[in-house]
Amino acid sequence: MAAVALGITGGIGAYKSVEVARRLQQAGHQVTAVMTESACRFVGPLTFEAITRRPVVTDQFAPGANADIEHVALASGTDLLVVAPATANMIGKLANGIADDFLSSLYLATRAPVLVAPAMNSNMLAHEAVQRNLATLTRRGVHLVEPGEGYLACGWIGKGRLAEPAEIVAAAEELLHPAGSLAGRSLLVTAGPTYEDVDPVRYLGNRSTGRMGFAVAAEALARGASVRLVAGPTELEPPAGAEVTRVRSAREMHGAVMARVAGVDAVVMAAAVADYAPAGGAHPAKMPKGADLTLSLSRTPDILAELGERRAGAAVPVLIGFAAETSDLVARARRKLEAKRLDLVVANDVSRPDRGFAVETNAATLVSAAGTQDVPLGPKRVLAAALLDRVEALIAAAADTRQKQVR
Ligand code: CTP
Repeated sequence: MAAVALGITGGIGAYKSVEVARRLQQAGHQVTAVMTESACRFVGPLTFEAITRRPVVTDQFAPGANADIEHVALASGTDLLVVAPATANMIGKLANGIADDFLSSLYLATRAPVLVAPAMNSNMLAHEAVQRNLATLTRRGVHLVEPGEGYLACGWIGKGRLAEPAEIVAAAEELLHPAGSLAGRSLLVTAGPTYEDVDPVRYLGNRSTGRMGFAVAAEALARGASVRLVAGPTELEPPAGAEVTRVRSAREMHGAVMARVAGVDAVVMAAAVADYAPAGGAHPAKMPKGADLTLSLSRTPDILAELGERRAGAAVPVLIGFAAETSDLVARARRKLEAKRLDLVVANDVSRPDRGFAVETNAATLVSAAGTQDVPLGPKRVLAAALLDRVEALIAAAADTRQKQVR
């Protein structure tokens, strides 16, 4: 998670910045919107306030805004400054050190990396003055997201349209994780529920939506890992960049995981795998309604336990399990840690409405042999980041152990 200042200047593309803010926020970053006066004529500050859930900076001279020299405070606490859209006027100010509003002052005050997404009429963009200013900024280390070509709001067709939000956010993520702390690593992540068919119409399922597993996959991708994602039935879109395998039942998930586990550095089993499935498989025909029905269930293969057993004594792959509990959180998680021979268990209290299944937020206790670590309530991506910090440490420790064994 990072602190991102999002500067919005007065161009028609300002509406796209709402989506940039939303995506950054969803990725777990803390976003502070900084709007110029003319930006406020295109989009209302309230929109950004609602999305970022933080006050929006709109005016350098508003009473109170300078009480703690806010642009300096924001400048020192910011990990990245994104300016999208950047008008020709703002690009001119940034290139020439003019600081006559909050955003241009923030640019001078911050030492964080700066990402600028220009948007303007194609003739303005091609003008020597603008090109010289852009060249000055690039020479100074400012990163640019090139404008797109196409139909412009002014009716022209050409280059100058603000880049798409996904592209701006991808460039921002790259700057936030320059080295890719998981570059060269490969992770297998499972997500979502499994459905155990009873007959062609009915199934046994659970309340998992896949959000937590997808958040882990997205964070791992952002850190440069290659991700094999095995997902149960879910409505959500998996993160772009993952190699996705869709499955339905616990048995299918077992097969998919076992076929893809070779060579991975870590397995994160965030899926809520059914423990039981109808004995003998699904009825081939729909079961007609009658008197009371008794279903006979048998145990599904325990994927994690099998991986733990197969690994027996070796340090690789690092194995992470999830435990959804309603009581005795840590004690029960610790029993799973030992029984399945895992490195870490993410213990969730699913009895509370703000965490666990089908909500955007989560809180958890990370349980390992060394002790416990509480991750307070926040977006699932924040929990994913805390978890991946631990996974990185475990992968490094596993590599150490392997090296010692070779020596
Ligand atoms: N898991 C698995 N294969 C299964 C069932 C669960 O790999 N057949 C994994 C889950 O993905 C999760 C962890 O094991 O990471 C959960 O452990 P489990 O013992 O299934 O916990 P619960 O079913 O939640 O709890 P309990 O056994 O206490 O009922």
